[in-house]
Amino acid sequence: MDEENILITKILRKENLQEAADILLRGDTLIFPTETVYGLGARFDSDEALQKVFRAKGRPADNPLILHVANASWVEQLAQDIPPQAFELMEAFWPGPLSLVLKKKDHVSSLISAGLSSVAVRCPSHELAHQLIQAVGLPVAAPSANPSGRPSPTREIDVMEMVGKVAGILLGGDCEVGLESTVLDLSTDVPLVLRPGAVTTQQLRRFLPDVRRYEGDPEGAPSPGLRHRHYAPDAQVTMLRGSDRALKTFIASAPKTSCFLLPSRLDIAFDGVRTIAFTPQGLLEEAAARLYALLRDADKAGMKEIYIAEFPLEGIGEALMDRVLRAAQYNILTLEEI
Ligand code: TXA
Ligand code: MG
Repeated sequence: MDEENILITKILRKENLQEAADILLRGDTLIFPTETVYGLGARFDSDEALQKVFRAKGRPADNPLILHVANASWVEQLAQDIPPQAFELMEAFWPGPLSLVLKKKDHVSSLISAGLSSVAVRCPSHELAHQLIQAVGLPVAAPSANPSGRPSPTREIDVMEMVGKVAGILLGGDCEVGLESTVLDLSTDVPLVLRPGAVTTQQLRRFLPDVRRYEGDPEGAPSPGLRHRHYAPDAQVTMLRGSDRALKTFIASAPKTSCFLLPSRLDIAFDGVRTIAFTPQGLLEEAAARLYALLRDADKAGMKEIYIAEFPLEGIGEALMDRVLRAAQYNILTLEEI
C-alpha cells in the first residue's frame, strides 16, 4: 500500500458505538464483529465508501458484498420478487448466520452485486453488530475483514492487522461461530447452497426440499467468491484421512516444521512436533470456531506444513470441512494402516 494511503484507525469498543456508527455514516470503513467472522463495512448507498472496502481488502471487484440488515423488514427495500420461502427462512434463522441471495432492486449498487442481478442479505445475531446497524439506520455492506485470500478474522488480534487500512475497528471479542455464514441462492429456480455455514443444508431442507449444495467446478461457480483462492494461510495445508493409529504413527515421524490440528482425543505429546487439539469438549463447533485462528497462529509460529484431521460432515462439520479443503486446495493425504 502506498504511504499516502495509510489511514489513522480509531480503535473502538461497545461504549463508543455511536462513534463507530458515525464513521460509517460519514462514508468511511469500519471493521465490526459478527457471530461468524469480523466484517469490513461501509454504508451501502455510497459507491465511494464501497470502493474503500475493495481497496482495504485488495479484493477483486468481481466478488460481490453481503448487505447486513437490522431485521427482515429491511429486505424489501433491497430485493424484489422475493419467494415466500425466503420469508420463512428469515423467520426461522434470523438473526443468525444465513445469507440469502435474492433478485436485487435497481438502486442497489453494482459494486455490491459485482454486476450480478442479485444481492446477498443477512441479519447478524451479534449484539454489537445489531446495535451498530440500528444506529446507522441503513444496510451495511461488508465482506469478511481479511485481506483478500487470507483466513477470515475471528479474534481482536486478527483485525488489528488491518490498522492503517480502515478508519475504525469496533472490537467485540471472539466470534462465536468462527466460519462465514451459509450463502443460499434463492434468485434462480433451484435453491442452491453456494457456501455451507452454521445453518446446515439439512436444516434448510425442512423448508426447501429440493435445496442442493453447489458442488461444481470452482472456475464456473455461480458465486464469484468461490472462484478465488480463499481461506489459505502461507503454510501448505493438507487434510489427513486415516485411523487414529495411522495418524499417530504419521505424526511421530513428522518434521518439526509441521503442525497438526486434531480432535482432542488424539492430543498426545509427540517429540517436538506441534499438535493442537481443537475440540476440548469433543464438539465440532469448537473446531469450527478455532480453525481460522489456528491457521493464522501456525503461520506466525513459522510452520511450513499444517495437517488437519478429517472431521465428520454432520452439523457444522459440513462447513468446517469445506473451509479445510479450500485451505488445503483439495490436497488430501490418505494414511494406510501399516
Ligand atoms: O458471515 C459472513 O457472511 C461474513 C460476515 C462479515 O457477515 N461475511 C462474509 O462476506 O463472509 P464475504 O464477502 O467474505 O463472502 C460473501 C460470499 C462470497 O463468496 C460472495 O461471492 C457471495 O457471498 N455472494 C455475495 N453476494 C452474492 C450474490 N449476489 N450472488 C452470489 N454470491 C454472492
Ligand atoms: Mg470472505
